[in-house]
Amino acid sequence: MTRKLSFQNLISTDQITNYDIDQIFSLADKYRINGHQKNFEEGVCRGKILATLFFEPSTRTRFSFESAMIRLGGQVITLEYGDSSSVKKGETLSDTGRVVSGYADIIATRHPQAGSAEEVAEKATVPVINAGDGVNQHPTQSLLDLYTILCQKKRLDNLKIGVLGDLKYGRATRSFIEMMSRYSGNSFMLISHPDLKFDSEAVAKLQEQGSVVKETSTLEDSISDLDVLYVTRVQQERFESDEEYVRVRSSYRIDQKLMRRAKPDMILMHPLPRVDEIDPVVDSLPQAQYFTQAEYGVFVRMALISLMLND
Ligand code: NCD
Repeated sequence: MTRKLSFQNLISTDQITNYDIDQIFSLADKYRINGHQKNFEEGVCRGKILATLFFEPSTRTRFSFESAMIRLGGQVITLEYGDSSSVKKGETLSDTGRVVSGYADIIATRHPQAGSAEEVAEKATVPVINAGDGVNQHPTQSLLDLYTILCQKKRLDNLKIGVLGDLKYGRATRSFIEMMSRYSGNSFMLISHPDLKFDSEAVAKLQEQGSVVKETSTLEDSISDLDVLYVTRVQQERFESDEEYVRVRSSYRIDQKLMRRAKPDMILMHPLPRVDEIDPVVDSLPQAQYFTQAEYGVFVRMALISLMLND
């Protein structure tokens, strides 16, 4: 394989160039079109091991990384609960990264602390992928989010994008907004409870870079304009107390009545898990793309792993 990515470890979205995105997506297309049997037979990661070091709950991210590696013919070792590792005994994440490098060829890690993936990568001698570091970053989620938009809308620019939910603590939304803001003509409607707004410095930065950004707490007025609506849950685990969470808990619920106002070709996205932000009745509408989005995560992570390992 002659393709090269510009990064060795994937820690944050700002490391990803547009050229990287093109390479990852064209390979993800190939894997999607090939089908799993053919990909497995080709086995581009045969003999390689992925270690998933997860210190926080996950269904989609860990499983799709593991599924991706297995579908490429590789194998997986996993740390599902950080509590069962030596970190519990006081080992640093950087020592853990160094040690696991002796057992695996690539590491995907998730941890509640911002900056944790960088720490794992510090002494690691194999590539490290950030699968979510606290409230900070979730770069592979945004890769699959963009891939889903590209597959559905055939473009990543000139889109009216609504982002709804916990914009204060959401790492998926932060990474998503950062990634989409690099494409020209995209405008953002940031919809949240007033106490869960996107960081004001980040909003100012987006505006300085030329993006049109509006902030609101009501979805009803803006949904009819949107090409993409990206919904997230309120990140309960980031709150100091239950009372605080209950106070701001989502007052938004996407239901059929609201969806009648949306364009027929709007796409409704969610990184999942959902709590009560989207009525399950909406799942059968053509706009609902969140399950496809989760499935595309496998193709995108297959592409990423194979490019990071075979460069
Ligand atoms: C997101 C996460 O973990 O940040 N989930 C995911 O990776 N699919 C969003 C969330 O948990 O709300």
